[in-house]
Amino acid sequence: MTHEIAVIPGDGIGQEVTPAAVEVLDALQVDFEFVEGEAGDAVAERTGEALPEETRALAADADATLFGAAGETAADVILPLRSIVGSFANVRPARSYPGLDAIQPETDIVFIRENTEGVYTGIESEITDGVRTLTRVVTEEASRDIAEFGFEYARKNDFDDVTIAHKANVMRQTDGLFLDVAEEVGDSFGMEYDTALMDALAMHLVQRPEEYGVVICPNLAGDMLSDLSAGIVGGLGLLPSANVGEANALFEPVHGSAPDIAGQGIANPAAMILSAAMLLDHLEYGEEADRLRTAVEDVLAEGPRTPDLGGDAGTEDVTTAVIDRL
Ligand code: NAI
Ligand code: MG
Repeated sequence: MTHEIAVIPGDGIGQEVTPAAVEVLDALQVDFEFVEGEAGDAVAERTGEALPEETRALAADADATLFGAAGETAADVILPLRSIVGSFANVRPARSYPGLDAIQPETDIVFIRENTEGVYTGIESEITDGVRTLTRVVTEEASRDIAEFGFEYARKNDFDDVTIAHKANVMRQTDGLFLDVAEEVGDSFGMEYDTALMDALAMHLVQRPEEYGVVICPNLAGDMLSDLSAGIVGGLGLLPSANVGEANALFEPVHGSAPDIAGQGIANPAAMILSAAMLLDHLEYGEEADRLRTAVEDVLAEGPRTPDLGGDAGTEDVTTAVIDRL
């Protein structure tokens, strides 16, 4: 059965790493039909719309979406896209790879981030000059959905350690609810888990990441802790992610448009290619996903490598090396 994949490269290095991922998927000879859409700063400048209606429709109708990155308009692009695909769970694996000079070479953590509410509701206002507020929304339903997804993910993928991140000692109502519901779900799964205050957790993730497996997080905490963990495994060029919904999903690297290196052909395509591997898993091409991950791991171990990993290769060199190994 042919799957239709919406491809939205976006801005900056999104324009460089997204074609790399498509090339790799092509090389795997899976039955995908790619339809490309525009989004981000460039299209906003031209048309006034960061996420044009046609692109919304592409993502809504496709079986899955591959998204690169947007620049300053990121919030106007990725938040609606996540909602268009009905995503409630953001899956962000942070793994270290053999042969790379990581700060913490024994890391294998998957952040399961709540993807719809928390402080990313966009409900902000200026009450008076110099005073602004933000409404943090936490619902029992979304907390239950993300906790169930997280425990299910841990069970399916054989993770022994599950941690619920929160700050319920201060945000008593909102994170209090998140924590209560997540603990209830953990108990109902009959699985062991820990709870952790997210600030102390940030320190422990740096010092002893090997003690963590699946970390279930509120929205902002998941965003920040996953970037922090990118730092200890070798950088943002390595972290893929999936935005999973009931019936649709979107796959994107954790990184942004990286304007500091955009246009130079030196962006690390690994995060984007590993996101494509998550897409393959999602569409039940498990064998192809494993082959692709192995190829990426081999290239990371033996090179060529992009400058963020200490090498001097370009995006295209790394992509070609991955394809050669397939
Ligand atoms: P960023 O992720 O774009 O870059 C942070 C640092 O990591 C930069 O030094 C960059 O060169 C490096 N980096 C990131 N990806 C890399 C890769 N594949 N290979 C090599 N180096 C890589 O985050 P930053 O600088 O905070 O934001 C830049 C722009 O991206 C902003 O306009 C921001 O709004 C947007 N952004 C978009 C996101 C999205 O579309 N989902 C997510 C995060 C930021
Ligand atoms: Mg982020």
